[in-house]
Amino acid sequence: MDVEKFKLIDETLGQIEDLPTLPHIVVQLLDKMHQPTPQIEELADLIMTDQVLTTQMINLVNSAFWGLNREVTSIRESIVYLGLRQVENLIYSVSLTNTFEQDAPLLKRVLFWEHSFGVALCSRLIAQRLKYPDEEMAYLAGLLHDIGEVILALYLYPSFEKVVEKIVADEATFCEAENALLGFDHTDVGAWLVSRWQLPPGLSSVIAHHHDIKSATEEPLLVGMVRMADLICLYHKLDFGITEGEQVVPEILATWQYLGKTYPELRKLKMRPFLEEFNQQIELVKGMVRAVYTVDA
Ligand SMILES: [Fe+2]
Ligand SMILES: [Fe+2]
Repeated sequence: MDVEKFKLIDETLGQIEDLPTLPHIVVQLLDKMHQPTPQIEELADLIMTDQVLTTQMINLVNSAFWGLNREVTSIRESIVYLGLRQVENLIYSVSLTNTFEQDAPLLKRVLFWEHSFGVALCSRLIAQRLKYPDEEMAYLAGLLHDIGEVILALYLYPSFEKVVEKIVADEATFCEAENALLGFDHTDVGAWLVSRWQLPPGLSSVIAHHHDIKSATEEPLLVGMVRMADLICLYHKLDFGITEGEQVVPEILATWQYLGKTYPELRKLKMRPFLEEFNQQIELVKGMVRAVYTVDA
């Protein structure tokens, strides 16, 4: 990431005291999960110390997305059904939605998380098709790709309002408007945040380059897959409810071609049926987000 931009973000956001940290329980859980022989009982006990997280996790696992043939009633069962890596990603999913629980004036969190869950699931679907070795990493990268946008919307509010006005007035993209008004954009802020949270560096690369995939030197396939997933969600109107000047269809074609040149696996895949396939998942994605929010209702 550009050092000057990093400095500017540090100066602008680094001093904000209530800037979110990765929830403590997530840090503890990830620590336990990454031990050589993680103990399911221990993990389940730790999750159950947080009642809200427990309820949200069980609701999420029972949402139609997983199509389980019977109701899961405990965390232990969830781990047995889904495996540790998926449960780890669900913990991220639920904890992050809880961390950013207030609506920003111009960014509705339900819409934001529908887009983020959508991109996460679509990234995983693409990763499966391309036989990328780490599908769960693709999910997490998709989930976090726009996290910088929430920071801008919540913590740089008057400026974010001007960003939205510029998007509407000039038919600009988020990145164009943000760079023009702030000197950095949500990709820089997101990369800055996850490096502050000490998440794996591959994630920071995806976040930093998801609007300019050709500039990615680290994890270029992951960056391309997340960008593709991002565009597919925009194509299906799984967006923030703010119409930006993104040329979605031409961008999808360009990204597909770019990825296909580098990755022969993609050339075996037909684009249209894939787009349609994801169409069927949209309602399931929305159901997942509603499952997480049930506790608030
Ligand atoms: Fe973005
Ligand atoms: Fe996005």
